[in-house]
Amino acid sequence: MKVLVVGATGAIGSAVAQTLAERGHEVIRAGRTRGDLQVDITSNASVEALYAAVGRVDAIVSAAGGLFFGPLNEMRPADFNVGLQDKLLGQVRLALLGQHVLTDGGSITLTTGIVADEPIRQGANATAVNAAVEGFVRGAAIELPRGIRINVVSPTVLTESLPLYGSFFPGFESVSAAKAAQAYVRSVEGPQTGRVYRVWQ
Ligand SMILES: NC(=O)c1ccc[n+]([C@@H]2O[C@H](COP(=O)([O-])OP(=O)(O)OC[C@H]3O[C@@H](n4cnc5c(N)ncnc54)[C@H](OP(=O)(O)O)[C@@H]3O)[C@@H](O)[C@H]2O)c1
Repeated sequence: MKVLVVGATGAIGSAVAQTLAERGHEVIRAGRTRGDLQVDITSNASVEALYAAVGRVDAIVSAAGGLFFGPLNEMRPADFNVGLQDKLLGQVRLALLGQHVLTDGGSITLTTGIVADEPIRQGANATAVNAAVEGFVRGAAIELPRGIRINVVSPTVLTESLPLYGSFFPGFESVSAAKAAQAYVRSVEGPQTGRVYRVWQ
């Protein structure tokens, strides 16, 4: 399959891209500043230019999307808007525009995270945005044409990311990026749609 991975230079995306390539797929790696192609998922024009450059693909994987983390009693509406514009609308944009470049039976895989279901301190934006992405996936799955599927992967904190985020996740088990990548394989190669693949242990 020809697979476009957006966020392919990141902690999750690089493992997903490597795993898919090892399984024989043709992987196109996109990042904001690195990778084979550059894209800004917060921009329609940028995403449209990416899809024009890659042409038809069999699968689109998103492992990108920024959130706002900060204490609720200091949070401003503009802070909350960070996650809405980046991780929520950015991934929705990849799906809405991407459905038209997918082959029949192709797939879209988005990324959320355990915070959708297990709130953490300073994570109100993350919980809301991740839950909204999962709602979009469930809604879109029943309406996508031509046998196109859509799923979402919700990893817990990565072992590789513990130095950055571990203090936000007291008592949470971490998983390796390689283990999380297997859920993306299930979504890309498997038959299911509308699923939330939780990789929490
Ligand atoms: N790491 C974890 O423990 C963990 C756990 C659960 C869920 N998640 C979620 O998984 C997603 C990826 O996390 P990560 O830790 O892998 O992130 P990361 O290491 O910071 O990598 C982010 C990736 O997304 C790209 N990117 C950033 N902003 C972009 C934009 N506006 N348009 C297009 N690409 C953009 C980056 O490209 P450049 O490198 O070129 O800037 C990079 O490839 C996030 O939504 C995060 O919430 C992460």
